[in-house]
Amino acid sequence: MEIEIRKEQLALSKESRYEEMLKMIEGITSAEEDVIAKLANITAVIRELFGFLWVGFYIVKNNELVLGPFQGPPACMRIQYGKGVCGTAWKEQKTIIVADVEQFPGHIACSSRSKSEIVVPVFSDGKISMLLDIDSEELNTFDETDQYYLEQMMFLF
Ligand code: SME
Repeated sequence: MEIEIRKEQLALSKESRYEEMLKMIEGITSAEEDVIAKLANITAVIRELFGFLWVGFYIVKNNELVLGPFQGPPACMRIQYGKGVCGTAWKEQKTIIVADVEQFPGHIACSSRSKSEIVVPVFSDGKISMLLDIDSEELNTFDETDQYYLEQMMFLF
């Protein structure tokens, strides 16, 4: 299984880096069954390929979100249903893209460096079991391309 990020991959277009990401994550998920090990390496692959500020999972436990494996600055450990971007994506059962976090009512600022964000739900048996959250230090980082590939990735779980 190839999980080393090579320098030349970083020079690729966003689409091509996402194609590489899907291949690597397919390798990770088919080679390992432990959920924490898989999630940890998935966050590392995404952060290394794209250089985002923060990449991590929030896991649904006892009706709240609990911080799971992540890469980046320390983050809030629990988020309530309907709160922040993550809790809202959970409640609305869909991906949310935030171009400017200061414009999102109730945004939870774990790092003052975060400027834009995407949150993508992971469904298991028709219910959200966790969410992938990615934060960027730039405004307006995420678009339909990010949404498309990150949602594709969720099918690999
Ligand atoms: N900004 C998120 C909280 C999690 S951190 O960004 C890592 C939110 O509003 O839900």
